[in-house]
Amino acid sequence: MDQHFKLTPISEGFAAEITQVNLAKDISPGLIADVHAAMDKYAALVFKDQKLDDDEQMAFGAALGTIEAKRATVDTGQNRLKHSSMNDISNLGSNGELLAADDRRRMFNLGNQLWHSDSSFKETPAMYSMLHARVIPPKGGETEIADMRAAWDELPSDTKDEIKDLIAEHSLLYSRAALGFTDFTDAEKEMFAPVQQRLVRYMTRTKRKSLFLSSHIGRIVGLPIPESLALVRDLVEHATDRRFVYRHNWQVNDLLMWDNRTTMHRGRPYADKRYPRDLRRVTTMDIAPTLQQQAA
Ligand code: OGA
Ligand code: MN
Repeated sequence: MDQHFKLTPISEGFAAEITQVNLAKDISPGLIADVHAAMDKYAALVFKDQKLDDDEQMAFGAALGTIEAKRATVDTGQNRLKHSSMNDISNLGSNGELLAADDRRRMFNLGNQLWHSDSSFKETPAMYSMLHARVIPPKGGETEIADMRAAWDELPSDTKDEIKDLIAEHSLLYSRAALGFTDFTDAEKEMFAPVQQRLVRYMTRTKRKSLFLSSHIGRIVGLPIPESLALVRDLVEHATDRRFVYRHNWQVNDLLMWDNRTTMHRGRPYADKRYPRDLRRVTTMDIAPTLQQQAA
């Protein structure tokens, strides 16, 4: 599998470090096939020492799939990045200034500190996220990734039976409300209207099942809301036990890649009112809405 790069597993079947490749120069069909195969097995990859500009990062994403067309955030008019579909995972405003404590964009972005799967609130959710570090703070700001396949595997069988056909409703309105951010315009409320996703997914390439959890979930179809959210909390608590989690301590020029179909992730706090953290994300789309994919 690793002819186009060197792969060193971080744990048995989850997360691996990749070296001896230059993503700005070495993209070829063979390399891309090896990346897909490594993602099937490990679900999270850390490419070390990748000095990439925005165009190069976009080119790597485009070689792996269809890049998501637009950002899903607030105040999209005020963005400092050149590519309209590149996600700004930073604490910076359009002129590179630190966002003020009560800036709407900062308050919205704090939602990234809750466990989630990218774009699970879109009808066709995300497949891969590729997050590249340009500037990192002196301390904190790690990114954690949790393996939802292993989490599924370790559920008791009666829980598996109980949840395997459930459908969840996801929206950015729900994840932001979890931190008390409810200040949405009517246009945003319309744009972020809930979508339905399977709670348990089946991956045809690997024949593995996976919990499809996210802080974006606001209810389970057919269950009262408190019962829905109590169930989801319980599953998230199980699925984010430390034994399922890889914590990434950033270095500049790391490119961290995860499979949103089979993992959740979250950012950890840092002194964002004092230090810049400039990470940029390119995201590919899944092949179809989860309800149109094979049931678990
Ligand atoms: C993301 C994300 C968390 C972080 O890029 O999608 O949620 O560590 N990032 O900033
Ligand atoms: Mn995210």
